[in-house]
Amino acid sequence: MTQLKTCCASIARSGFGTLQLPEAMLQDYKQIVDGYSAISHATKASFSFSQDTDGFFPFGAEYSSVEEHPDLCERFCYWPAHASKRKGFEFTRSDFFAAVEIFERQVSELAQELMDGICSEFGVSPLAPFRSASYVQLCVYRAQNASIERRFAQDPHEDGHMLSLIKPSREGLVLVRGRSLEPVRLLENEIAVLAGSLLTELSDHAIPAAYHAVLAPQKPVDRSSLIYFVNPNPEQMLTSFFRRQRIDLSRSVNARHTGFGNQPIQLL
Ligand SMILES: [Fe+2]
Repeated sequence: MTQLKTCCASIARSGFGTLQLPEAMLQDYKQIVDGYSAISHATKASFSFSQDTDGFFPFGAEYSSVEEHPDLCERFCYWPAHASKRKGFEFTRSDFFAAVEIFERQVSELAQELMDGICSEFGVSPLAPFRSASYVQLCVYRAQNASIERRFAQDPHEDGHMLSLIKPSREGLVLVRGRSLEPVRLLENEIAVLAGSLLTELSDHAIPAAYHAVLAPQKPVDRSSLIYFVNPNPEQMLTSFFRRQRIDLSRSVNARHTGFGNQPIQLL
């Protein structure tokens, strides 16, 4: 069995899988994670588009379950769907931005292959391309923002997408299974793939959403996580995996998206 098929079977069964990334993607990942610290405050402030959940977001702008309990990170989001509107910004000509663009293209292809494999596990047709509804997010947890009072840097939640592909720079990500917390241990070249509740709905509840959290570090330490969030193509009429009935996920997409403190998605 190929590693992609093994990963798809694991997601179909448990809502979680892992996958090895090709060397080229790992290089881009490293450039993104390492490059963030050199970006100035002024650039971050000018390249922020909250109506599109795009660009930079300051520390504490997102939360996972309670608004007063923000995620202890800052964020950078990149949507290929909004890229043409940003061309006038100098920042889009930076090495960091170029690496994000390349990574997004590669990870979107990987995610589409994963979804094809998941559909094949259920014997249903592949989904329409979803790249234009999906996006990359870099979460940066800085040592200076670590909180000794908090158990979690990001509270338990599920992401509310179809899939999340998550590549953290260090430990901290845990799967929440009932009352127990299972650390996600990845090899240097691996990415974690988590199912979200949109895939649960689409699969008629066959695929569980992977609830997860980020543990607060015991000692202040920098940590980053590069994520690809997969939303369905809003133009595709979806059919659920078991009952084979029409299913409209557009309301769920926005309910989940705004549930983290984001503005509604304008593409839909
Ligand atoms: Fe998450």
